[in-house]
Amino acid sequence: MLKRIQSLLEEVENLQASNAEELETLRIKYLSKKGALSALMADFRDVPSEQKKEIGIRINELKTRAFDKINALRAQLESTDSDTEVEGLDITRTPYPIELGSRHPLSIVKNEIIDIFSRLGFSLAEGPEVEDDWHVFGAMNFAENHPARDMQDTFFIESHPDVILRTHTSSVQSRVMEHTQPPIRIICPGRVYRNEAISARAHCFFHQVEGLYVNKDVSFTDLKQVLLLFAREMFGEDTQIRLRPSYFPFTEPSAEMDISCHLCGGKGCSFCKGTGWVEILGCGMVHPSVLELNGIDSKIYKGFAFGMGVERITNLKYQVKDLRMFSENDKRFLEEFTAAN
Ligand code: PHE
Repeated sequence: MLKRIQSLLEEVENLQASNAEELETLRIKYLSKKGALSALMADFRDVPSEQKKEIGIRINELKTRAFDKINALRAQLESTDSDTEVEGLDITRTPYPIELGSRHPLSIVKNEIIDIFSRLGFSLAEGPEVEDDWHVFGAMNFAENHPARDMQDTFFIESHPDVILRTHTSSVQSRVMEHTQPPIRIICPGRVYRNEAISARAHCFFHQVEGLYVNKDVSFTDLKQVLLLFAREMFGEDTQIRLRPSYFPFTEPSAEMDISCHLCGGKGCSFCKGTGWVEILGCGMVHPSVLELNGIDSKIYKGFAFGMGVERITNLKYQVKDLRMFSENDKRFLEEFTAAN
């Protein structure tokens, strides 16, 4: 009996299984009711009582080893199983079907504006959205406590009154002028912030593209021609422009520009409120004080500047009725612009 136990022990230690079926065969062979261990237990009854203790201990040992071995083989099979599964499977891969995103309508229009002005020789300039009072207001000729600061509802940071969210990208014009001498010909696209209640017609942030040209002998005629060309490139060859006098602290003279309503061709419709014209931007000749405040000699140089809202231009092109659509990330809205990419 002891010999039988010893040879079974050796057999058990050397068991191998390369798949679940083989393992099951082994389990049946050794551990089932008709298996080797049960047969041993049956014969154990006939063992003389003085040997029962020793043989009992050896059978128990065999039983434990056999269970342990079969369990170890099972664990080994399971782990290699999942290894082979992972090998052929990239769990970081995007699930099918892969959905292609589309460019945001504001980016489409912003890129179009940039493209038109870059063909006219304007280069791109960018700056920080979190700004200081100087670059947003001081350097743009907004005097301390000047009521014009109220024109742009500013977000301040209570503990740091000098730190603000820029209300226009004119701050980038200042940042370029303070370290560059003319000729300067830049466009400054970017996000700006104003403390306004959010509605279909206003938002607390929006996007602008501002332009600046500083050189010797720059005139209002140059401004007008550049803007006419822009309007025709953007809205079609038949587009007319109209300049109305306006006020900005950083330009003198200042104007607001309308384009002929491209929906009704200038005849008057609900979109242009029957006037035939829609406003698209602010502009003017750079105020001599702005040049001086930014280290440029206003006796030698002149400049023009303009600024437009990207949302406004996008609305004119695509008739988006509610400004909030631009920031809600509603896929149904965004997918409408796929073809415009
Ligand atoms: N900075 C002005 C605004 O945000 C726009 C503007 C730029 C007007 C340049 C005139 C000249 O309203």
